Amino acid sequence: MSDSKLTVIKTSKNNSGQIYDLEGRIFKVNECFSQSQLRYLKSSPSASFFLLCDNGSSVGFGVALRDKFGNGKYKGRIYSIGVLPAYRSTGAGKLLLDAMEEYLIKSHVSFIVLETLKGKGGAESFFAKNGYLESKFLPDYYPYGDAVRMRKAVATG
Ligand SMILES: CC(C)(COP(=O)(O)OP(=O)(O)OC[C@H]1O[C@@H](n2cnc3c(N)ncnc32)[C@H](O)[C@@H]1OP(=O)(O)O)[C@@H](O)C(=O)NCCC(=O)NCCS
Repeated sequence: MSDSKLTVIKTSKNNSGQIYDLEGRIFKVNECFSQSQLRYLKSSPSASFFLLCDNGSSVGFGVALRDKFGNGKYKGRIYSIGVLPAYRSTGAGKLLLDAMEEYLIKSHVSFIVLETLKGKGGAESFFAKNGYLESKFLPDYYPYGDAVRMRKAVATG
């Protein structure tokens, strides 16, 4: 993408239609959010939506969650992240993940977790490159395969 200019924005939840559209172009049908999952995320105060934009058009998306524990601490979660195939392997995924982490860190989370498909088709090595360590193997976590939970400790902002 020689003349592309990538930026990440934290977007209004009214733009969930763009996220739904991107999901359909990035994930296999059975891996996508259902409309009801997306409605739930839209209504959840702990969820935030991000878009990766190239000169105004959306080419990737992320959904982050921030939850409070009983002890008053916050946990961040990368709930979903995806970049259109044409933009991959150029640092676009890292740009998006960095922006989501920055938002979570500013929101005072102590650590960030995520789940991803184990093995081929999963993004374990992408997250490992970005500082996440495997914390648990989750057999049959998805209807289509096993998962790993990964975790990254962060210095709160
Ligand atoms: C995961 C994803 C967002 C990474 O985006 P990206 O733009 O390729 O990321 P970067 O360019 O910053 O990093 C690329 C590196 O991460 C690793 N990587 C990225 N995706 C990977 C995957 N699916 N499997 C294994 N390694 C992967 C590789 O080391 C890659 O380097 P390489 O291209 O030199 O092999 C993108 O591959 C994607 O949208 N995948 C489909 C959706 C998905 O699996 N999302 C995660 C679900 S939780």
